[in-house]
Amino acid sequence: MSSTNELQQTIADMVDDHRGILAADESLPTIEKRFEAINVTATEANRCAYRSLLLATPGLGEYISGVILFEETLGQTDENQIPLPKTAKAQKIVPGVKVDKGKGPLAGAPGDLITYGLDGLENRLEEYKKQGARFAKWREVYPITQHNPTPLGRQANAEMLARYAAVCQEAGLVPIVEPEVLMDGDHDIGRCATVTELVLHAVFHALHRHGISFEHMILKPNMVLPGKGCRLAEPREVAEATLRVLSRTVPAAVPSINFLSGGQEPEEATANLNAINQMKGNAPWQLSISYGRALQQPALQAWQGKPENREKAQQALLRRARLNSLARQGKYDPSMENEDD
Ligand code: 13P
Repeated sequence: MSSTNELQQTIADMVDDHRGILAADESLPTIEKRFEAINVTATEANRCAYRSLLLATPGLGEYISGVILFEETLGQTDENQIPLPKTAKAQKIVPGVKVDKGKGPLAGAPGDLITYGLDGLENRLEEYKKQGARFAKWREVYPITQHNPTPLGRQANAEMLARYAAVCQEAGLVPIVEPEVLMDGDHDIGRCATVTELVLHAVFHALHRHGISFEHMILKPNMVLPGKGCRLAEPREVAEATLRVLSRTVPAAVPSINFLSGGQEPEEATANLNAINQMKGNAPWQLSISYGRALQQPALQAWQGKPENREKAQQALLRRARLNSLARQGKYDPSMENEDD
């Protein structure tokens, strides 16, 4: 298959009007933090058991079309020696992989960050592809302060995302482009809107300069929200601000926008997605999820690292996936949170 056909097929398998993406690609330090909260040690075996239970959740493919895996998971097998990417595939869930190598300070721009991992990316992608990955993810992170992100920070981060996306498309992997403006801080929703708009402008300008095919990528942005130290915003307010910023920055050729949850509570992230979809009018893109915490939190709580809780954890994941699928269609109501499955 030519790489364009390959990219087109992956988009067709991942993008529809009712499913979303599960982010299960926590790096080693992050999964350690998540497991610590339930008193589980992040050994390789525990990481494998947990991720294998997520992917084997019966019926998950009804609501989830893609899963972002951590590099390690691509090579892991379940108790029956079935590779985990195969377990996803069997449910019609496309496996993908996080390919960035984490972040650090950006020299010359105090307070801004930059993500590592471009060196040798072509070779790594070849390996990931052999292991079953059909798309990739790269995250750039933008803290908001009075001075950040700086113009240099916005430009340097956009350049990284564009270079990564170009390498992916050449290799026949759909790039998920993730510029995350963080919720940390006490800024208001207006400041987040201003920053997100500047960030997305820079990202799409760079993607264009690097010749990215917009039709064959997925954007994974933050919703426009007030900082954690500020008051909570109503879903309507979040939806209005988010749609305004996206309409001013994202080309109509991009097939799907899949939001990250970024530290929102699961119910909050679902309600905000629902409001966005109720208000979207004739927006040209699919508006869906690529949630990590907001999908997994209840499952982790139910699991507690105990094999006997495996089914309970799967039910918790399936429930959040189903509610987000409804929100994806603007058909969610918070009262559904109290209904039995
Ligand atoms: P959250 O939804 O927990 O923000 O995770 C999404 C993700 O993949 C971050 O890179």
